[in-house]
Amino acid sequence: MSMNIPTPHIEVKDKGVIADTVLMPGDPLRAKFIAEKFLENVEQFNSVRGMLGYTGTYKGRKISVMGSGMGMPSIGIYSYELYAFYDVKRIIRIGSCGAYTEDLDVYDVLLVDEAWSESSYAKTQSGYTSDTTYATPKLNDKLANIAKVLDIPVKRGKIHSSDVFYRQDFNVYKNIRDQYGCMAVEMESFALFANASILGKEASCILTVSDSLVKGDVTTSEERQNSFVKMMEIALEMAE
Ligand code: ADE
Repeated sequence: MSMNIPTPHIEVKDKGVIADTVLMPGDPLRAKFIAEKFLENVEQFNSVRGMLGYTGTYKGRKISVMGSGMGMPSIGIYSYELYAFYDVKRIIRIGSCGAYTEDLDVYDVLLVDEAWSESSYAKTQSGYTSDTTYATPKLNDKLANIAKVLDIPVKRGKIHSSDVFYRQDFNVYKNIRDQYGCMAVEMESFALFANASILGKEASCILTVSDSLVKGDVTTSEERQNSFVKMMEIALEMAE
């Protein structure tokens, strides 16, 4: 598709304002928090629909951070526009997830290698018929290495990208865990990885466990906003 910038959902007129690497939390206020807490020389490049985006420097290196919104249609739109029209090279989603297994606790950090989904996003978007999409292995290896250097434990594996947060039958998660080997659930990675793949770009996803479907533990939204710092510090090291 050929489209000029600005795009329908991103208002900045100069491509060069957005860095090669964009971190994407779901919540635009988390993007603002990251820009204010971690970045210097900050410039806001988007506020369309309140989907705040910022570019700044981290340890002197350029990086951008922008909200994705919740769910695959939303991250599908923003990541496509960033990759295809703003020449962004890599997007690292930094989000929260619900644990599907006993051995995950709230605040554990996960590095996503694969996203399984019942979503029709990839099929509708490009005719891709598999139910699994993949993070960029090279990028994940870099992120795993950064985590090691920072001494932050991460668990790697497969997650469920769901279209539904409130299911009528709560227990369905057990089948998805057991049948597909998903360790946790979120709502965006499958579409992000699908877009990266068809556009020849890089994508990854780091998640912090915010709740456990197994144990019933939850974090508050304030804790989520303010204490997911470990995951952010890993991703910010990708600044160039
Ligand atoms: N993100 C964080 N917790 C989640 C859950 N329980 N289901 C889907 N997405 C989530």
